[in-house]
Amino acid sequence: MDILKSIDEMRAKRKAWRAEGQTIGYVPTMGNLHDGHLSLLDLARTRCDRTICSIYVNPLQFDRTGDLDRYPRTLEEDIEKLEALGADALFVPDDSMIYPRGMAHATTVDVPGITNILEGAHRSGHFVGVATVVCKLFNLVQPHVAVFGEKDFQQLLVVKRMAEDLNLPVDVVGAATAREPSGLARSSRNGYLSDTERAQAAEIYRALCACAQALRDGERDIAALEKTGIRRLADAGFKPDYFTVRSTADLESPHDSESAVDWVVLVAAQLGKARLIDNLRVIDAP
Ligand code: PAF
Repeated sequence: MDILKSIDEMRAKRKAWRAEGQTIGYVPTMGNLHDGHLSLLDLARTRCDRTICSIYVNPLQFDRTGDLDRYPRTLEEDIEKLEALGADALFVPDDSMIYPRGMAHATTVDVPGITNILEGAHRSGHFVGVATVVCKLFNLVQPHVAVFGEKDFQQLLVVKRMAEDLNLPVDVVGAATAREPSGLARSSRNGYLSDTERAQAAEIYRALCACAQALRDGERDIAALEKTGIRRLADAGFKPDYFTVRSTADLESPHDSESAVDWVVLVAAQLGKARLIDNLRVIDAP
């Protein structure tokens, strides 16, 4: 696997692949790779000739410095996992390449509407940080296909909309959430959980399934379902930020014209030191 540490190396690799007529599948990450990331790479590989991953912990998307400082950095292990998986290249830019004039002076990308709700309402400036870095990375890597996890459902929608609005020639694809046997969505933040909390955390998926199943069975008192979800998580020891049913198209409250198959249940809740997010589309209720 080629490890590309500069913008020149990244551009040379991409030019060479494109000159050979190879298609490029790309998975942007912040490292600390787990099976969830690896399944994104697997999907990229089924769609393209070459697969490339990037690891860059983007300071612009963190609203709390403490969160940025303690974000796990495990480059050596990540490289081993990518090599075992047969990725073709890894791009590891640093802050001076992504924000050459410093973050305070960076040109930024703001996707209106869907960025101010849910995660955007709880993490100020988060999605400007995500959209900006992903746009820059797309410009550097110039992939044909880019794969993002559906676990970050709102992020996936923001990136899709950004690519569409800015006419970027990339197909943004979502990959199903990888889960532990208990149902807990795989996430780098699970590393902040103690063993007891990890077992408790599976309650998120159970609450999502119960809500999605009720909607599929015809329940339409959404406010009551949301309240039940919040109560259930609070009883299990969480501090829930939201447990809500939204339209998959724009994350607004469900539209009258839609059927439940167009809805998604989204949750964010704090457990111990970890803020966990997850979601389940009604259509995917097990
Ligand atoms: O999902 C992530 O890991 C990050 O938000 C991303 C997409 C790599 C942008 O920094």
